[in-house]
Amino acid sequence: MTTISDLSRRDFSEVFPTFCEISAKETSPIRHAVLWPSIPLSSQLLPFDILPTTSHHGAFLPHSSSSPPTLIACLTITLERYAHPHHLDPVITARAREHYQLHKFGVLQEYQGRGIGKKLLLEAIRQLRRRIGDEGPVLLHFDARETQIGFYEKLGFVVLEDERIVKRGPTGNGPPVMYQRMGMLVQSSHGYLFG
Ligand SMILES: CC(C)(COP(=O)(O)OP(=O)(O)OC[C@H]1O[C@@H](n2cnc3c(N)ncnc32)[C@H](O)[C@@H]1OP(=O)(O)O)[C@@H](O)C(=O)NCCC(=O)NCCS
Repeated sequence: MTTISDLSRRDFSEVFPTFCEISAKETSPIRHAVLWPSIPLSSQLLPFDILPTTSHHGAFLPHSSSSPPTLIACLTITLERYAHPHHLDPVITARAREHYQLHKFGVLQEYQGRGIGKKLLLEAIRQLRRRIGDEGPVLLHFDARETQIGFYEKLGFVVLEDERIVKRGPTGNGPPVMYQRMGMLVQSSHGYLFG
């Protein structure tokens, strides 16, 4: 198997990563390793994961003759209304035709900080833009871990509400993690539109 130590940073960016849609089940080990390690592997999936409108996206290490592709990052996108529309900026409310939510985004720790998360999220947004076609913009929103807000801001996402929220994982009994709601308007033909 190709490992990160086999690749200089330059090589890494040239050969890495490959992306494709994955099944809900494939996301569980990454979620368990990166997001909620105290929650059993068998409890990582939620009802939205198996809806036909949900898509799961993965980043893979390239395969070699001796090993299959290895999943090292994933995220999930659902068709889901923003939970508190009355808190949204009126411009976003007026423009967003539909709402999609990003969930359960994680890159395995040993591969973080090498641009993989950014590429995977941009690839998922590219797929979303294809999915929405030439219709009006949609709101892509999510609850961002407070520690990662800077990552999303670099990609152009904005904080949607001042209020901070606390979550305890898929079973509700994990350690408390603070979040803030973020998002952006995504449109097919004109790139990103910000709220
Ligand atoms: C958050 C996460 C998905 C980002 O993926 P990543 O592959 O590590 O990030 P990238 O290397 O693609 O970073 C892209 C850019 O964001 C910056 N960045 C990354 N994390 C950041 C952070 N927490 N705060 C500010 N900037 C950050 C990088 O420096 C890089 O900047 P550059 O483009 O100027 O070089 C990943 O670190 C992760 O899985 N973290 C643990 C789980 C988690 O918190 N998931 C998100 C839940 S909301």
